Amino acid sequence: MLIKRPKGTQDIIPGTIEKWHYLEEQIHKVCREYGYQEIRTPVFEATELFQRGVGETTDIVNKEMYTFLDKGQRSITLRPEGTASVCRAYVENKLYAQTLPAKLYYLGPMFRYENTQAGRYRQFHQFGIEVLGADDPLVDVEVINLLWDFLQRLGLRGLQVHINSVGCPQCRAVHGEKLLAFLMDKKDKLCPDCLSRLTRNPMRILDCKNKDCQALITNAPTTLDTLCPSCRQHWEKVQHYLKLVNIDFMINPKLVRGLDYYQKTAFEVMAEGIGAQSAICGGGRYDGLVEEIGGPPTPGIGFAAGLERILAVMQNQKIEIEDRNKAGVMVAILGDKARQEGFRLAGQLRQKGIITLMDLMGRGLKGQLKYADRVGARYVLILGEEELAKGIIIVRDMKIGDQQEIALANTVEFIEKQINSSEFEI
Ligand code: HAM
Repeated sequence: MLIKRPKGTQDIIPGTIEKWHYLEEQIHKVCREYGYQEIRTPVFEATELFQRGVGETTDIVNKEMYTFLDKGQRSITLRPEGTASVCRAYVENKLYAQTLPAKLYYLGPMFRYENTQAGRYRQFHQFGIEVLGADDPLVDVEVINLLWDFLQRLGLRGLQVHINSVGCPQCRAVHGEKLLAFLMDKKDKLCPDCLSRLTRNPMRILDCKNKDCQALITNAPTTLDTLCPSCRQHWEKVQHYLKLVNIDFMINPKLVRGLDYYQKTAFEVMAEGIGAQSAICGGGRYDGLVEEIGGPPTPGIGFAAGLERILAVMQNQKIEIEDRNKAGVMVAILGDKARQEGFRLAGQLRQKGIITLMDLMGRGLKGQLKYADRVGARYVLILGEEELAKGIIIVRDMKIGDQQEIALANTVEFIEKQINSSEFEI
């Protein structure tokens, strides 16, 4: 029986991988321009990192982690997200002793045992950035600005930035009490998840997706109602700077995010047309996290964007990317001697950086021309025993449909010139 890939995972095959390469290039480029450096952390970590970092009351830790004992009986978890790992690496590698803030970015697979549906996978890929060591509201806006810039460069349309402040532990305690009082006489109508949140993390009730809970909390007190003076000032400044850089945003007082580490700023970018999983990015400030996992008190802020969801928006909006893998040259050969010369020629062309293919299936000339067409070759070099004897080669321009004979010895120089000439378009 055929063995299939695990549920919620995807093979990224030729034809699609080009889009990933393009996204990855754009990510490296935008991060370089904003002064962020790449960090790569392990795909698995000690389970405790996420229990402490992401939080015991979250769905991620409670329901969605890929956790197992390794052969040394250590509890290991495939990373469900990148922030906790980056904070651990920041502490473990003493990055706090280097120039601050640490401006880091990452790119890679994450794992969550979720109910799969369109846009929700068990292995998915995130691009994230984290700034550690700076608490200025300007940093919050630099992070959102980088994200916005990246999405604009990709050409995505119809996006909405939702933003909120969830306050600090002090103002959140006040909010928790007010919310508890508000829900006191409605408690029995809450869903079982919210009932347990009521004592453990009441704020999360605000973004419960259950219709009955949503109706109950329509007029519930929000975290914005109870911000302390310092959180309020931070919140006002974030909005001020966002206006300064012309980023439209929507204040969403019910946006509280599904991870426990957030403080003050929380945000998401939503896209239309990709179904229920419309959040393409999420992030926020997490000033207590580094300390929580054993490091020095360190403010932090970042976001992560889901690459599968961004690609879904690009597909939905018919955003095409240039195919840079089309062959420049296909060497068509007839006969064994020509095959050897063609092989040598292909090597020389590749040395010049020209994408060059050759028949590897023993096709006849007709089949080789068909192949050249399929791989999108701009030029076909035709070499048979006759041409070889005369010291010539036939160059067929597949775009114009024209062909000419040139001296075999000049082939590389000729093709290079054609390809570098301004009219050349693959
Ligand atoms: P998150 O909201 O859990 O935040 O995930 C960020 C993004 O990852 C989502 O907006 C979504 O695009 C994508 N994503 C999440 N789960 C899935 C899934 N099952 N399938 C496909 N895509 C998914 C975080 O992970 C935080 N670490 C973000 C952050 C960084 N906050 C501060 N710094």
